[in-house]
Amino acid sequence: MGSDKLTQIPTQEDDPPNPTTALLSFNTTTTHHPPRPITTTLLLVTLLLTTAITLSAALAFAFLFFSSTTAEATSSHTPISHFSRPLQKLTHPVVILVSSDGFRFGYQFKTDTPNIHRLIRNGTEAETGLIPVFPTLTFPNHYSIATGLYPAFHGIINNYFVDPINGDSFNMGSHEPKWWLGEPLWETVANHGLKAATYFWPGSEVHKGSWSCPAKFCMNYNGSVPFEERVDTVLSYFDAPSSEIPVFMTLYFEDPDHQGHQVGPDDPEITDAVARIDRMIGRLIKGLEKRGVFEDVTIIMVGDHGMVGTCDKKLIFLEDLAKWIEIPKEWVQSYSPLLSIRPPSGYSLSDVVAKMNEGLGSGKVSNGDKLKVYLKEELPGRLHFSASERIPPIIGLVEEGFKVEQKGSERKECGGAHGYDNAFFSMRTIFIGHGPQFARGLKVPSFENVQIYNLVTSILNIKGAANNGTSSFPNTVLLPCKSI
Ligand SMILES: *[C@@H]1O[C@H](CO)[C@@H](O)[C@H](O)[C@H]1NC(C)=O
Ligand SMILES: *[C@@H]1O[C@H](CO)[C@@H](O)[C@H](O)[C@H]1NC(C)=O
Ligand SMILES: *[C@@H]1O[C@H](CO)[C@@H](O)[C@H](O)[C@H]1NC(C)=O
Ligand SMILES: [Zn+2]
Repeated sequence: MGSDKLTQIPTQEDDPPNPTTALLSFNTTTTHHPPRPITTTLLLVTLLLTTAITLSAALAFAFLFFSSTTAEATSSHTPISHFSRPLQKLTHPVVILVSSDGFRFGYQFKTDTPNIHRLIRNGTEAETGLIPVFPTLTFPNHYSIATGLYPAFHGIINNYFVDPINGDSFNMGSHEPKWWLGEPLWETVANHGLKAATYFWPGSEVHKGSWSCPAKFCMNYNGSVPFEERVDTVLSYFDAPSSEIPVFMTLYFEDPDHQGHQVGPDDPEITDAVARIDRMIGRLIKGLEKRGVFEDVTIIMVGDHGMVGTCDKKLIFLEDLAKWIEIPKEWVQSYSPLLSIRPPSGYSLSDVVAKMNEGLGSGKVSNGDKLKVYLKEELPGRLHFSASERIPPIIGLVEEGFKVEQKGSERKECGGAHGYDNAFFSMRTIFIGHGPQFARGLKVPSFENVQIYNLVTSILNIKGAANNGTSSFPNTVLLPCKSI
């Protein structure tokens, strides 16, 4: 195999069994505080108009109504439409699914991002970001976006793992169909006799069903291909006669994940990487405009996960647990932020978990309180991370920004990481939909990326495979057709 660049989508997140990070607090979900001014106003009104109780109630409702309609953007030049817009030039809907790896929610405000904001202003945005699946790693998440399945069901439970049944190892260059369960969008499209085109996406090179990764429309991963070339190739698909234009395309950029690992999410290098992604979106929009199809094409821009800063004081060493239980490195399939352990048969799993947690909770292991170890069946159900043989039986959840390693080293550890609990706000990424079936200027609440599969099949008006998205979800985000 060649360098990482050629065989696998990069990501230093995947140092094989070696150091990395993890996280643990669950206090990051958005909570809604009632807008204070309303309460105050209400109080005043009630005090002043003691006899006019009904009036004050009406007022309160009016305030509440106006303060909660932020759902529909109010900027004057983006009228809200109520029905999907008819195609002008294309003969069928086309979806371009764009991924910017590690584009943490909020990065869109780091600098001027006029092109991304064009999509936001005239499209539909997850107001507080897109929620990744657990573990918040690149391969599990890209494949959840493509299949609508949680990793336990699509089989890509980590960026690398060992199949316990036959001992085979999966890594990011493994393209044998046996690893990749479920039905990704390009396969669904091909199964309907339609064309799909993939310019990189984890799993896209794998032959499944009617999808055989055709040379013309399926690029083999090569991280050295300039972003501009990727955009221009996707644009060139629109030069074909309308009936031959693939109905579904993917476009993948490694940035700003690449920089995020090295320097953490707050470095100016991230700002530059975000600006560059914005220029690529601008290049895509311009190219579509030049061909007269920008308003016809649906662009869905997402990321796979966010990023959080890590540093060398925030480490937990398994070696420090030796007094309670020895965890040899051969047992550990991944360290951080997803700690996964498979002891050899003969060991009592619950005994291993109990001894590890005893040590971690003893107060004698540095940062021990930042790691909690579970039998996978006992992980919080919201993580959906147990129903697969491939998931090792013991999983650790690490506090946000912390990392687990085997033992202390001299390595400098400041940078960034992801893979943590998907409840952490820092792990959120973006969702923007722009096209004939997306309302202009609409903000929708955050949702999990397993919903995207049904969204795409719904836009393309094809029947998808069974998955973990809710079948009614597309109706809550997409505009209805005028007819019917
Ligand atoms: C948004 O769409 C409207 C209606 O098509 C168009 O006039 C306007 O220029 C668009 N705005 C942006 C920022 O693209
Ligand atoms: C990868 O892309 C670079 C840049 O376009 C190119 O020079 C190189 O030959 C490609 N490698 C392979 C194996 O196709
Ligand atoms: C996810 O979808 C798969 C395939 O339909 C199904 O077998 C599984 O039970 C679903 N899991 C959850 C948690 O919904
Ligand atoms: Zn990633």
